[in-house]
Amino acid sequence: MFHVLVVEEDVGLCHQMVQALIDSGYEVEMAFNAQEATNKIERNNYDLILTQLSSAQVDGYHILKKAKGRNKTTIIIVTTDTEKSHTAFEAINRGAHGFIEKPFSSAQLILEAKEALEKRSLSYDLDYLRHQQDTIYEPENIVGESPQLKACLSTSLKVAKTDFTILLTGETGVGKELIAGLIHYTSLRKSKPFIKVNCAALPETLLESELFGHEKGAFTGAINQRIGRFEQANGGSLFLDEIGDMSLRTQAKVLRAIERKEFERVGGGRTIKVDLRFITASNKNLAKEVQEGNFREDLFYRLNVVSIRTPPLRERKEDIIPLADYFLRKCCNDLKKTCRSFSPEAHKYMLDYHWPGNIRELRNMVERAALFSDGEIIGMDGFSAGETPPRPEERREKGIISSLEGMTLKEAERALMVNALEKNNWVQKDAAKLLGISKRVMNYKIKMHGIQNQRWRRGK
Ligand SMILES: Nc1ncnc2c1ncn2[C@@H]1O[C@H](COP(=O)(O)OP(=O)(O)OP(=O)(O)O)[C@@H](O)[C@H]1O
Ligand SMILES: [Mg+2]
Repeated sequence: MFHVLVVEEDVGLCHQMVQALIDSGYEVEMAFNAQEATNKIERNNYDLILTQLSSAQVDGYHILKKAKGRNKTTIIIVTTDTEKSHTAFEAINRGAHGFIEKPFSSAQLILEAKEALEKRSLSYDLDYLRHQQDTIYEPENIVGESPQLKACLSTSLKVAKTDFTILLTGETGVGKELIAGLIHYTSLRKSKPFIKVNCAALPETLLESELFGHEKGAFTGAINQRIGRFEQANGGSLFLDEIGDMSLRTQAKVLRAIERKEFERVGGGRTIKVDLRFITASNKNLAKEVQEGNFREDLFYRLNVVSIRTPPLRERKEDIIPLADYFLRKCCNDLKKTCRSFSPEAHKYMLDYHWPGNIRELRNMVERAALFSDGEIIGMDGFSAGETPPRPEERREKGIISSLEGMTLKEAERALMVNALEKNNWVQKDAAKLLGISKRVMNYKIKMHGIQNQRWRRGK
């Protein structure tokens, strides 16, 4: 069951929202002011937070920051008054999923909540599928020449042969999951299961049953018995990803299970013994989380037997070009295009960029560039057609990106182009500038998408 928090100072509206959500099967809590909301956010792990953006009692930006700091997978939807809806773009810039303008109906509220939660689970599925191919964990598919990466790989290969519990740390997208797989597939347990659980992806009650399984009838909806991940991983390795996002209650249960290698299914009395190797990962600073009371100290020490930090891409710039070449080769192969290379400007751009999303961001950017550019050499044009524009703030300010989610890449590109053209009175040169692409590319893409306008005909 998804756990939702509604933050709304208007008591009547708040109750109405809560009732609609409860009727649709969500577990809901409410807060009437910012203090109440932040107290709740510190104590709970919400899947979705619906908050006012700015009012006398509520500072939505503060709530957004708190909630994202607590759990980056929490979805935030802001509710705004129509006349202030432009501020909602700022909220989206700061990590909100979307906004709903007041007044809204209960049906609209439920639809938004459902869509947001569905999208989140789809993106988990996509990541999961990508990692389903065991071959990605083979050492030769882990690219990079930097001493930092080599040190990280060499420690991983050494500890792989032991049964030590491992804690993988590092920013998002640096390759923690890849290292976890490398450890399992080079360990003595490699012929046994490698089971992964994203602890941030599930609400507390579901996570417990996901980990430990449940007996038939353990709770409403438990129609059948279910075997949990601990049991599925028996003999192999269990990868607990985003462990910093687990609630304190679940942490206590996991600590016991790790220490004793035994547990009970939810609603069951029988103790089940397992033989497991634990690999865990977090992009939070767990030592700090311990200090702040969000993470159990005993569990931290239990997990931190061996800790391996994967450095961010900007600390190992030598890896950028080999990784970009590797992703380009793979992508051209998949697209059945002839293999190409990058221009010197594109190289410089990649080397200078700070890559906040690390290797995942680099891979996405290269894949887009390969898809969009047609020449032998991928230059800056290829990049600016993708998601990493030169100045995202400028484009957002002008309201171009309202909601591209749910569209295919091609539809999104067309929508962006039409929007930019409309904003610039259909002057192609100005729209191209706003989109950060050359006039030539703009012209080519207008033809490709079959975009037409009366004014162009009149001018001919
Ligand atoms: N050295 C590498 N060589 C090739 N591919 C890599 C390398 N490092 C990461 N990748 C790829 O980059 C993507 C992100 O890596 P991964 O999912 O392991 O990151 P993560 O640290 O677990 O991120 P998050 O904290 O967001 O879950 C994956 O598609 C992965 O295969
Ligand atoms: Mg990961």
